[in-house]
Amino acid sequence: MKKSNLIVKTTALAMSVTLSYIDKGDIVIDATCGAGQDTVALANAAGKDGCVYAFDIQEEAVRRTEERLREHGLSNVQVHKESFASMNEYVSDGSASAVVFNLGYLPGGKHGITTTAVETLEGLACALRTLRPGGILTVVMYDGHDEGRAEKQRVMEWAEALDPKQYHAAYVNMLNQRNHPPEILWVTKKINGA
Ligand SMILES: C[S@@+](CC[C@H](N)C(=O)[O-])C[C@H]1O[C@@H](n2cnc3c(N)ncnc32)[C@H](O)[C@@H]1O
Repeated sequence: MKKSNLIVKTTALAMSVTLSYIDKGDIVIDATCGAGQDTVALANAAGKDGCVYAFDIQEEAVRRTEERLREHGLSNVQVHKESFASMNEYVSDGSASAVVFNLGYLPGGKHGITTTAVETLEGLACALRTLRPGGILTVVMYDGHDEGRAEKQRVMEWAEALDPKQYHAAYVNMLNQRNHPPEILWVTKKINGA
């Protein structure tokens, strides 16, 4: 079977690994739904018996995500115009098989509204609570702007300090590419420390 050249597109690589952790019927969180592209991929993976909880603080993002879901005929998603810091109000601890953060600006939206280091660290702590053992947290990070650079640094420090008995963290950076391509952080919650 022909395979696409996965490593050249960071977001596709991030999603491809994430989808391998999701089965039909699973609970999944899209922490930053933006234009809804990730939400659609996650909703397809979770299937009609699963549920995706999608969050974004911007009205425009919620509208674009709901529109995209309608276009794809997907009804297994709850879209909330709320911060990802609210995810624990909707999803029980230890129940999500994947939580996805795609940091930064809404594509084609206002650049004044972006994820921030302080809020993102709060959201990541919420994500670890909701993740089930064996589940994956995926964070796509952009360091081509000042806030993104500071945010990435804090997120990396946070990941490096995670207890290796409970979590396994991995990081991908496109080493020889120009113009700050996105980078990926994955964290999986170990099952019985393995
Ligand atoms: C790069 S975009 C996400 C792209 C999206 N996943 C997609 O597939 O189109 C980042 C989004 O994070 C949102 N955001 C910023 N702070 C947030 C927060 N505290 N909680 C949830 N979303 C937030 C922004 O409004 C923006 O839409």
